[in-house]
Amino acid sequence: MNSDSELSSSVIRGVGSYLPEKNVDNIELSKRVDTSDEWITSRTGIKARRIAEKEQATSDLALEAASAALVDAGMSPRDIDLVVVATITPDMAFPSTACLLQDKLGIPKVCCFDIEAACSGFLYALDVADGMLSSNRYKCALVVGAEKLSSIMDWQDRTTCVLFGDGAGAAVLTNKGDGLKILGFKSGADGSNPKLLHQPSGGSLDPASQESLAGRGHFLKMNGREIFKSAVRVMERAAREILSEHGYKESDIDHVIPHQANARIVESLSQRLGIPLGKFYCNLDKYGNTSAASIPIALDEARRISVVQKGQLGLMVAFGAGLTWSAVLVRF
Ligand code: COA
Repeated sequence: MNSDSELSSSVIRGVGSYLPEKNVDNIELSKRVDTSDEWITSRTGIKARRIAEKEQATSDLALEAASAALVDAGMSPRDIDLVVVATITPDMAFPSTACLLQDKLGIPKVCCFDIEAACSGFLYALDVADGMLSSNRYKCALVVGAEKLSSIMDWQDRTTCVLFGDGAGAAVLTNKGDGLKILGFKSGADGSNPKLLHQPSGGSLDPASQESLAGRGHFLKMNGREIFKSAVRVMERAAREILSEHGYKESDIDHVIPHQANARIVESLSQRLGIPLGKFYCNLDKYGNTSAASIPIALDEARRISVVQKGQLGLMVAFGAGLTWSAVLVRF
């Protein structure tokens, strides 16, 4: 089955992204943290990241990206009847960042909610929105990946704080029309080892207290080496499964837009899939890992600089805390 016309999924009508102004490169970071440009670059490929202002919340980043996506789609906030925001750094535990975004953008009083699937969040949100659109009860979805990861970084932990950045990306989806056609999804999760990447405190298990603050439990914690191995394994499997389910081979892929976590993870994935590295779009050198925002930011950039051409076959693939993963096949 590889005739796209046989498949019925939604269309991305417009894409937009936003990155905060403040650029912090490795040299500047190494003045604050015991690290070096050489270590960060050789281990990760990251050279810089954007950091939001103190008064900017995730919904503010989302607002900029969503506004740009609406302009790209030639649509207005009044056209939207579903808002899904993927984030692990919501403005607050509740109400959802999607509700706050609805009000800021002037979207009608429609269904709004957040999804939390860490770095796979944007692809999970696309999967959910695509399903809701195909029910025909919704016509036009705004799907956003937005993160202010700097708000949960432990700036005393050099093993994590050098990796992440802030940003947002958004897409407008309808179930028909011209645009980037979604052909299918392969999403999954394995919750058996949650401590590989987590934020231990601040939830119901360990509510905020003097002790949790003193233990720095409100910051992101990670076992980098184990995450690295799992990331490559689950992304390879999800990519192979979606290609085979849709009757495509690895060699049919024109572009891969991977989650932007680490250049070495992307290189390993490229080798294992046998898809040349030149087909992978990467901008993690400039922005670091922006979690749920990384794929829509990369997608927007790749489209704007004409890396991807209409009619080409694309694969977006991500992994994240959970562990979660998702692969999405698209026709540009
Ligand atoms: N600067 C300098 N040295 C650092 C450092 C930093 N920022 N961070 C760690 N180190 C040191 C460690 O302390 C360790 O020193 P030691 O050998 O004296 O104990 C050494 O570097 C090696 O650390 P290690 O953790 O084994 O390095 P690594 O090669 O596994 O690279 C990561 C670490 C985090 C870059 C890598 O494991 C990774 O990218 N993992 C995936 C993380 C990820 O993508 N997370 C997001 C998931 S969505």
